[in-house]
Amino acid sequence: MIELKNLTKSFGTKLITNSLDLTIEGGEFLAIIGRSGEGKSVLLKQIIGLIKPTDGSVIIDGQDLTKLQPKQQKDIFKKCGYVFQFAALLDSLTVFENVGITMLEDGESEEKVRPLVIQKLASVGLTADVLDKFPNELSGGMKKRVGLARTLMLNPKILIYDEPTTGLDPITIRLIHELIKKTHSSCQATTVVISHDVDVFNYATTVAMLHQGKIVYKGSTKDIWDCPNPYIYQFIRGLPEGPIEQIGFVK
Ligand SMILES: Nc1ncnc2c1ncn2[C@@H]1O[C@H](COP(=O)(O)OP(=O)(O)O)[C@@H](O)[C@H]1O
Ligand SMILES: [Mg+2]
Repeated sequence: MIELKNLTKSFGTKLITNSLDLTIEGGEFLAIIGRSGEGKSVLLKQIIGLIKPTDGSVIIDGQDLTKLQPKQQKDIFKKCGYVFQFAALLDSLTVFENVGITMLEDGESEEKVRPLVIQKLASVGLTADVLDKFPNELSGGMKKRVGLARTLMLNPKILIYDEPTTGLDPITIRLIHELIKKTHSSCQATTVVISHDVDVFNYATTVAMLHQGKIVYKGSTKDIWDCPNPYIYQFIRGLPEGPIEQIGFVK
């Protein structure tokens, strides 16, 4: 379980996360939505320790990360897999080296790492044909899959995806969402997907909306379509902001 309590982050005088509270149950599949620049990535990075909160707590499985020593923090972060917005593959390394990087760096032999890499690639729908390719030889969707395979090598208990579908075509978006869903079903990791794409509602079970540094809604992905909050109503339908009467709001 992940509990964010009174979480606050400012950069200089700019308040990005504003006394935010959010609880994510173990095994939950949560989508976090919100406009560009609302602070979604900053929020994720505080959960996984890449950004230190200005105030408040990040509690993972009962342990408040903000109160732990760096060594203990590291043990918790090992449970977390973070799939970066742009796959973040290393261009000079092959797919095999990218996916196996942590084990290879730990000095494990290629013979030992190779079958595990092939297994993780298979779980994201890729065959061993791609092992020796370089990232620039892969399509956008394939790069995302390779990025996910690399994260799965760590057998994470928490899987966090930052805008996994940005820049992809509608068909690939669907395939990536299906893959995230399949991965959630098979590894049962607590899954958080940051998105501004409402297609994610077809896959996630819960949704939270970030606005002005706070979670302004959390509920099931089915119920959000009936949410009477005007800001949410407009956002999920892609309607322009403005007085609600002008856009035919009926509730
Ligand atoms: N390291 C940083 N230093 C200063 N400002 C930052 C930093 N990281 C993010 N920001 C600012 O925080 C705001 C939220 O950014 P971000 O979390 O990336 O938005 P989102 O992911 O919702 O599009 C932006 O205004 C951004 O410029
Ligand atoms: Mg972002």
